[in-house]
Amino acid sequence: MDQDATLIRLAVFGMPVKHSLSPRIHGLFAEQAGLDIEYRAIETCEEFLAREVQALADSGGRGCNITMPLKQRAFDLANRASDRARLAGAANTLLFETPSRWKADNTDGIGLVRDLARQMDGTLAGSRIAIVGAGGAVAGVLGDLLAENPENVFIFNRTEKRARALSERFSELGKINSGTLADMENGAEFDLVINATSMTRKSDTALPDMRMLAPSSLLYDLNYGQAHESLATWAHKKNIRCIDGRGMLVEQAAQSFFLWTGFRADTGPVIEALQNPG
Ligand code: ATR
Repeated sequence: MDQDATLIRLAVFGMPVKHSLSPRIHGLFAEQAGLDIEYRAIETCEEFLAREVQALADSGGRGCNITMPLKQRAFDLANRASDRARLAGAANTLLFETPSRWKADNTDGIGLVRDLARQMDGTLAGSRIAIVGAGGAVAGVLGDLLAENPENVFIFNRTEKRARALSERFSELGKINSGTLADMENGAEFDLVINATSMTRKSDTALPDMRMLAPSSLLYDLNYGQAHESLATWAHKKNIRCIDGRGMLVEQAAQSFFLWTGFRADTGPVIEALQNPG
């Protein structure tokens, strides 16, 4: 058979995207599935995103991932959207139903919830969750977190009005409160604290003083790799269990792969493989 007839063309678009782990992750999923894929990392900006995605769709592409800072733009470009993408106002996945009809989806929240289920050894139902940060990353995961029925989600952010806006936007889905970083008090009890700020990606920035972390809390960083190092060092000194976002990355990718191919990947071996250089 003509090799091109079975080749599934995919890509991730972002800026920067050179160091993206997605080509490797999807390559490992394809091996499991016995599928022949081409998954490219394409650097582009908002202005050229539509053109670049169209070129992929026209060349027989099945779909693509979108990463920072293009997720909102990708959502706007799609003809249709899943409820998840609509709630987030952002897409990390596009499925080409036809070359000119794109469906937006957002698998970030599912990715986080699935990785948390593994890390926390159980359910998020009834748990007390704190989120530090109120940007695009939080909007992308909040709907799926609230769908797990936590007791409460508290959003702390430097700019209080952004935290308040998010808590109002999602208030119909569960109990949410908001406050500033100064409200992160000792004695508040959280089972899970999620770092969703971009500040911890820089090693020279003073980290927020997360006084609400208890010895039993799990600190989950949405970042991974170098961007996770400063928080990992800080948590280690305080004897707090801290996990990076690599598992979430693999889980969100697995859901995208499922949307494109119908194949459910076994994520455990892929998360393990990422611990070794590719
Ligand atoms: P992302 O898509 O990664 O969520 P974003 O939408 O720019 O990126 O959001 C970045 C988050 O990190 C915001 O919550 C931001 O706080 P503000 O809403 O006050 O801007 C937070 N953040 C970035 N730099 C920070 C800093 N130096 N101190 C505290 N919070 C910071």
